[in-house]
Amino acid sequence: MKHFLYWRDRKIAFVPGEMLAYTLFRECRGGAGFGKSLGGQTQGLFCGIGACQGCLVTLEGRGSVESCLTPARDGMRVQPIQELTDGPSTTESCNDDS
Ligand code: FES
Repeated sequence: MKHFLYWRDRKIAFVPGEMLAYTLFRECRGGAGFGKSLGGQTQGLFCGIGACQGCLVTLEGRGSVESCLTPARDGMRVQPIQELTDGPSTTESCNDDS
């Protein structure tokens, strides 16, 4: 059975037991990152241990979370953090359809 969550409304698969950051890293192929921070820095997987805040994303129902410490779950809806306050992103992030 495959497992899926939603990144920017796009359905993506994850491996049960993995942290959300690794799902997004694989989906983004390590390239464009997870969007931009409110300060304009590229978000992505950096330390992997909850120390740098570089992997913050917005999780529906919870607000900003460290994706490296958040287990991927079926049906969760995730978006870059800048979209929480600014609406759809105008900056580069993976799976950017614009
Ligand atoms: S990658 Fe550093 S806090 Fe998640």
